[in-house]
Amino acid sequence: MKLAVFASGSGSNFQAIAEAIQKGQLEAEIGLLFCDKKTAYVLQRAAALQIPAVTFSPKDFPSKVQYEQEILRLLEENEIELVVLAGYMRIIGATLLARFANRMINIHPSLLPAFPGIHGIQDAFEAGVAETGVTIHYVDAGVDTGPIIAQEKINITTEDTLATLTEKIHTIEHRLYPTVLQKLITTQKERAIDDEKKSLN
Ligand code: GAR
Repeated sequence: MKLAVFASGSGSNFQAIAEAIQKGQLEAEIGLLFCDKKTAYVLQRAAALQIPAVTFSPKDFPSKVQYEQEILRLLEENEIELVVLAGYMRIIGATLLARFANRMINIHPSLLPAFPGIHGIQDAFEAGVAETGVTIHYVDAGVDTGPIIAQEKINITTEDTLATLTEKIHTIEHRLYPTVLQKLITTQKERAIDDEKKSLN
């Protein structure tokens, strides 16, 4: 399965996915890293991993539609089958959604629908809730909405600080994202085999 990863920042999830592929735990290939921030650290990770990377921002285009049309062109040129958002901090517009509906997933550091947005870990910590977690979901037009694929919970203890909680959440993310991706790929393969059997009968 040929993936594109979209990221805006550090790219630790991108790295975790790339390493799972290298270890043979994930039957996929990252055909493209797309980053909307030219100074993001994820671009250095991509260079070190020798994964093709492209960066531009909506400001480089007259409109968001044209920005997304250029992304779409890259996805098609690279024959991308699944788009994996990993810390991509923008709302996906209609141009991309129309072509990648059900083929675009996101990871979020809270138990959605609680604490969507860009500060999911901090918002849960400051709200004083007893548990939070990680959610992986299909992307729709909202902010961290869309059908949930998987969630993993974690207790927030009295000893936790924002820093320890952040580290625990990231550890879960780096394990959960490659695992869920592999499950999606296996399910898709099984479906393809079933479809082929049906067409032969
Ligand atoms: C991750 O914690 C991811 O869940 C979060 O951004 C971080 C990116 O880290 N995404 C969101 O908050 C989406 N609303 P990374 O760049 O090190 O992978």
